[in-house]
Amino acid sequence: MQSFQLHKGVSTVSDKSYTHEDWQGGYESLKQEFDYWIDDVEGQIPPDLHGTLFRNGPGLLDINGQRIHHPFDGDGMICRITFSNGHAHFRNRFIHTQEYLEEQKAGKILYRGVFGTQKPGGWLSNAFDLKIKNTASTNVIYWGGKLLALWEGAEPYRLDPYTLETLGKERFKGVLSEGEGFGAHPRLDPSCAQKGGEPCLVNFSMKLGLSSKITIFEQDLQGSMVRKSAHSVPGFAPIHDFTITPNYCIFFQNPVVLDVIPFVLGMRAVADCMKFQSHQPTRITIIPRDPEAKGVQTLEAKSGFIFHHVNAYEMGEEVVVDSICYESIPTTLEPESDFRQVDFDAIKPGQLWRFYLNLKDKTVQRELLDSRHCDFPSMHPQKVGHPYRYFYICAAHAATGTAPPQALVKVDLESGERQIWSAAPRGFTGEPVFVPRPNSEREDDGWVLALVYDSEYHRSDVVILDAKDFNKGPIARLHLKHHVPYGLHGNFTSECFL
Ligand SMILES: [Fe+2]
Repeated sequence: MQSFQLHKGVSTVSDKSYTHEDWQGGYESLKQEFDYWIDDVEGQIPPDLHGTLFRNGPGLLDINGQRIHHPFDGDGMICRITFSNGHAHFRNRFIHTQEYLEEQKAGKILYRGVFGTQKPGGWLSNAFDLKIKNTASTNVIYWGGKLLALWEGAEPYRLDPYTLETLGKERFKGVLSEGEGFGAHPRLDPSCAQKGGEPCLVNFSMKLGLSSKITIFEQDLQGSMVRKSAHSVPGFAPIHDFTITPNYCIFFQNPVVLDVIPFVLGMRAVADCMKFQSHQPTRITIIPRDPEAKGVQTLEAKSGFIFHHVNAYEMGEEVVVDSICYESIPTTLEPESDFRQVDFDAIKPGQLWRFYLNLKDKTVQRELLDSRHCDFPSMHPQKVGHPYRYFYICAAHAATGTAPPQALVKVDLESGERQIWSAAPRGFTGEPVFVPRPNSEREDDGWVLALVYDSEYHRSDVVILDAKDFNKGPIARLHLKHHVPYGLHGNFTSECFL
């Protein structure tokens, strides 16, 4: 694969940096399950990179040849890359959700998907069927001795971290009721003020309606639920991600309304029934993490659509939140359209914004930090909820316009410097994951790991970048024996599963 190392504002590829055909190759199903040591390696795997990268995302983009309508409706497949003594091992397994097993047995689509997949037979076959498929495909995390595949619409699936065998639904000893959601973006607090400085996992669930309910969960290192609190917010509030500080959970409520009738009548996906309200503000709800504390605050910012936040931290009277914000909803598709034919030029970019939430004056100021199209941020785990300097993110190759992600960018929030490694023209990047070097002091001392689809060979690489210096290019590229469909989120644990 040809690659380019770029500095800010410099582009060596004119016009488009990719072709649609190349990009589409990464959306073919991967039906086979593998288990092997990776022996095709360019460069050297750092011997002190020790642990396991788990990734989740749609493994199937079709059911026995019947195409699904949107990749977010694809059945979840876990990829596990284990690093040990300078070697790496790959394994992938599908999550055996009830829906996956039924559809594989039937050899056809049996369930509607949130993002537009319909049962065959037109709207009449789908009308009044309100059951949505749980794909379990959004994220995967190892916490409290459990490997959990996350999908925000229902409880997680627990997997064996060694075999990736599906063990069943996880309800945390009855804390979750049957079918209750558990967010796909838990935040790991490195030093929880409520727990004497121990790390904890903070997550939430949404119950949507004319008025919505946010439930916040906090788990200790052993995976026990140590705090749970529920809060009502007015209106329909589909919230995908949130962010934390030592004292607060912060939720950005995108201004959308839901016209559910076309969904009920089998004509549209539930996600495509959301209408963005550009004249309405984004509502920001700030909830104290101490369940005894009073004073939930609601502030308002200019309308925008946010999937993911980078981080948040407290500064005196203010909470600072860095987020990837779009002008409108970027993912909806018309029922007859094909996501493989998406016109990127027609989509407004996701851009890096900083929000200053003044809790005293109840005002919000916002500032554009970077206009390059980007999403899927990652940062040093010890800096979650605290002032920080660096993060890493997927981005378009070009500095302007919207395009599939082909670059990984290191953002230095202090100096403003950007370091960019691009896999263009034939490579397409997935979410970066930052892994600190053991016993390191510097915030950027570590590695950035990402799966990169190489359309030239129709295979994926595990790319390892030195987080201190993207400009020197990957320190190792691990060529897999196959491609991995474009994924969503994942996490690294220092525990080694083989
Ligand atoms: Fe996400």
